[in-house]
Amino acid sequence: MDAILAIEEVIADAPGQVAEVESLEQLSQVEASLLGPDSVVGQARRSMGSLPAEERPKLGAKLNEANGRIGTIVSKRRTELELVEETRRLKEEAIDVTLESVILPSGSMHLVQQTIDEVVDIFVGLGYQVAAGPEAELSWYNFDALNTPRTHPTRWESDTMYLDWGRPEDEVLLRTHTSPVQARWMESHDPPVYIVVPGRTYRKDTIDATHLPVFHQIEGLAVDKDIQFSDLKGTLLHFAREFFGPQSDVRMRPHFFPFTEPSAELDVTCFNCDGGEVGCRVCGGAGWIELLGCGMVDPNVLEAVGYDPSEVSGFAFGMGPERLAQVRHGINNMKHFIENDVRFLRQF
Ligand code: PHE
Repeated sequence: MDAILAIEEVIADAPGQVAEVESLEQLSQVEASLLGPDSVVGQARRSMGSLPAEERPKLGAKLNEANGRIGTIVSKRRTELELVEETRRLKEEAIDVTLESVILPSGSMHLVQQTIDEVVDIFVGLGYQVAAGPEAELSWYNFDALNTPRTHPTRWESDTMYLDWGRPEDEVLLRTHTSPVQARWMESHDPPVYIVVPGRTYRKDTIDATHLPVFHQIEGLAVDKDIQFSDLKGTLLHFAREFFGPQSDVRMRPHFFPFTEPSAELDVTCFNCDGGEVGCRVCGGAGWIELLGCGMVDPNVLEAVGYDPSEVSGFAFGMGPERLAQVRHGINNMKHFIENDVRFLRQF
């Protein structure tokens, strides 16, 4: 029977045709051409009604076979193509979440400012207030009120930057330390006084590893009834342990400042080698690091601001945050602080 032969041919050809199909769309077309209404199979199905009854079962069975076998290979190919398509789509539409987006760089606090904040926090924790004063300062506050006579070498032009503002009777300079704020504060506040004064200071220094002409200081001043030298030492020991670690110890060496009497320089034990390691990169083997100047407020200073030295006494200290940071981080040259090289700054 012709129809059955034709269907067998279709069944035999189908696997090859289906295998060649490369897209789902093409597959639907091929499926229609194999099994659709206009296909050989479709036409045979339609012709069933007009066949003699005895021939129908044979053709029916062949049609079922065609539907089954062709249907199976078509749906197998469909599954394959769907997978290919899916893979391609995933690849095309993939978002690379690891791709760097535009990162707006955010700034960070300069190491010197971080150091100032940390020191100030330690003293605020002890109840100190934060005070400030002008950087262009009267000679009176920078020197005279601080018991520093006209003849003192720090007043020389070679050490101090004077500003010519046309009024020689009120000599103005760029403050050489934060100590003038001691006098300014005491002049306008009654004791007790507990202040820290962070600020910028200026000296006629040439830039080298340990000097900058523009640098910072943090002043401390405590004036109250019965303040003694031991209070100064205890306060600075507390500071050293907060800043450098609880194992720190301090020592004082006699020194001279016009505005304190007695005066001292404070050393702290080396936090790096814990004392006396030959060639230690921080203390050089000394075991001690020179940290700051301090002393008991000179009675002349108390008098100059209108305090009564028989009623109150006090201590003062001044330290350099650049030096603190240099010591703590092993920074070999102060120039790094002002060069604004982000490779340096980003480390802190
Ligand atoms: N003003 C001093 C200096 O610049 C430091 C200091 C402050 C010393 C307070 C004693 C008391 O070197």
